[in-house]
Amino acid sequence: MYHCFLVPAIVVFSCTCRKPYETTDKMIERKIDSLLSDMTLEEKIGQTAQRGESSLNNGNLSEEIKDAVRKGRVGSFLNVTNPDNVKELQRIAIEESRSGIPLIFARDVIHGYKTIFPIPLGLAATWNPGVVEKCARISAEEATTAGIKWTFAPMLDICRDPRWGRIAESPGEDPFLASAMAKAYIKGFQGDDLSSITSIAACAKHFAAYGAAEGGRDYNSVSISEQLLRDVYLKPFYTAQQAGAATFMASFNDVNGVPSSGNEFLLKQILRDEWGFDGFVVSDWESVTEMINHGFCSDTMDAARRAAMAGLDMEMTSTAYEKYLEMLIQDNIINEKQLDEFVRNILRIKFRLGLFEQPYTTRNPEKVLLTDDNLDVARQAAIQSIVLLKNQGNILPLDKSTGKIAVAGPLADAPHEQLGTWIYDGEANDSRTPLAALRNYLGQDRVVFEPGLEYSRQKSREGFNKSLAAAENADVILFFGGEEAILSGEAHSRADINLPGAQEELINRLSETNKPLVLIILAGRPITLSNIIDKTDAVIMAWHPGTMGGPAIADVLFGKSSPGGRLPVTWPVTAGQIPVYYNHNNTGRPPDEDTFIPIDSIPVGIWQTSLDNTSHYRDIGFKPQFPFGYGLTYTCFEYSNIRLSKAVIHTGEAFEISADIHNTGLREGSEIVQLYVRDLVGDIVRPVKELKGFTRIHLQPGEQQRVTFVLSADDLAFHNRKMELVTEPGQFKVWIGKNSDEGLEATFELKK
Ligand code: BGC
Repeated sequence: MYHCFLVPAIVVFSCTCRKPYETTDKMIERKIDSLLSDMTLEEKIGQTAQRGESSLNNGNLSEEIKDAVRKGRVGSFLNVTNPDNVKELQRIAIEESRSGIPLIFARDVIHGYKTIFPIPLGLAATWNPGVVEKCARISAEEATTAGIKWTFAPMLDICRDPRWGRIAESPGEDPFLASAMAKAYIKGFQGDDLSSITSIAACAKHFAAYGAAEGGRDYNSVSISEQLLRDVYLKPFYTAQQAGAATFMASFNDVNGVPSSGNEFLLKQILRDEWGFDGFVVSDWESVTEMINHGFCSDTMDAARRAAMAGLDMEMTSTAYEKYLEMLIQDNIINEKQLDEFVRNILRIKFRLGLFEQPYTTRNPEKVLLTDDNLDVARQAAIQSIVLLKNQGNILPLDKSTGKIAVAGPLADAPHEQLGTWIYDGEANDSRTPLAALRNYLGQDRVVFEPGLEYSRQKSREGFNKSLAAAENADVILFFGGEEAILSGEAHSRADINLPGAQEELINRLSETNKPLVLIILAGRPITLSNIIDKTDAVIMAWHPGTMGGPAIADVLFGKSSPGGRLPVTWPVTAGQIPVYYNHNNTGRPPDEDTFIPIDSIPVGIWQTSLDNTSHYRDIGFKPQFPFGYGLTYTCFEYSNIRLSKAVIHTGEAFEISADIHNTGLREGSEIVQLYVRDLVGDIVRPVKELKGFTRIHLQPGEQQRVTFVLSADDLAFHNRKMELVTEPGQFKVWIGKNSDEGLEATFELKK
């Protein structure tokens, strides 16, 4: 028997972030009242329209588009980056339209504008919100020079399926880590003051559960329990809302049969009523009219009706509102008050952005883009995102005096590919590649470059012999493999996630030279390695590391810096094992290392037996290749003396959990100390582990530090079967460790 007690709803759902705006908020609402009272129906509908033709960047603007702005039929543009056109469109909106409402210019500034940082999955691997905030700040400073005042980021889709191409844009599989990232991005993009010329409105996307697409196939259906939705997939979005995210984007997928753009439960009940969101929601690209394909709406008018009823404020690129909202209002199907609410939400953000006072935000980019400081942050972010996965015999770091280095693989000198997905404005010319950085380190002569493969999918073996010959004459082989940028990102799901093309074969051939072989992976997702990992001495995951990827990788290879990242996702052995994630529920028959019988140990012709009938795969077992939170360093950290300040805590109380971390190796290094808990018995089954804290520490050789986490009873809350947010009394386990699979264990009890 257990008793549950409710966490007061106000703690969870009140919106605390608006306080500093209170007085200005009132003034803003009054200004909106006055604007609304003077706007025609056409002008109101115009505010809900976002247009984005690529022609808007070429030469002269068409008369059609100028006229639409003049008549107040457009509220926002996306992807207009030609500064002259931005200025001219804004001038027409302000000076020639009746209401004089400024436009808001949007762009996907996802992991950098000109200075490109590691892909978001790589940034999550830093486990360093401070670095992520800096990257987002620089992105905002750079992008606002082109008049961009709204980015479609951060992407906060929890993802447990690396086949999904958009995992590259995601913060990974864990709601706690993703929430920390969410807060950092919002703070970085929006700054301390949204109306500052260098601030940019953030957009928490894709709301919701887009990362749970069936089979990892993009845009696919999501069947999900409300409990899982709330406790895992919505968590980073809630944090984003609390952190003051100005906008949200509705996702493409349906959630339990209802597409997000027409989903009243998501957009009204959760976002507005429960969380108190007062910014605006934009659809995804044509996601309103795609509700017809979903089989949720009969035609475009029906799509406009469903979206409006659900509370979607702005329509991206499709024109259902533009065509039918007026008719729907005149026929009393949609209340004009609902439209007023949309316009109010949009204008509120335009006011908060300071667009009415400062509509022209383009400025001289010269001293802002790609500055030395920006590049340095990009280099540090890449270093901290790099995860050392294997380091047999401590072959890394390499000694600078290592004689000759053979550089192979398709991604050693691929300036465009290292930037990764969603880089509209980043340029390959600005990239520093690993090859260039290695030559910088060692000089031209000691680095012999024979890629063997020109691009990651290449199947031709034509270049193999040259690459093998270079390897024969070298002391170490560095193989830069992985995926080209285009193989991850939107609509780039893969059924197999191994190294594409003939890369595995080339690695196999290179290993036959018996020279030390280091694999450096540049990719948008974990890559299954089971066919080749034994052929390598060391493996580094560098993600798509961005503009400064080359110097960052060279710094790590030669030990100038330690690899600073830890996995933000579980790394599967094979695609057939997916979904595989650390915070899963237990079954009634959990797998057991001691009793597990691998496929090849089963005697031929044996009778059916119930021995070892547990949850696993007979051919690959039940462990991932690498667990969530995993990453090696160039030194050793020992954990000892886990202690709790209280063994029994009560609701509303907090307590401390601490442990000693000792650098027992010979080099300095950073460790990411992680805190996990398990609620042993619940109203519904609770995950086997849940991340509840983490911190990055840096220790000199021999140095020891006591790391203390504070955990409160509220941190243990979850949604029960009645969808109440509760913390239940009972026994808990707690771990402090270096990843989700290892750690010092202790127990505590939560009492009423
Ligand atoms: C993507 C969004 C993106 C939008 C605008 C869509 O296809 O799903 O993430 O922000 O396009 O470019």
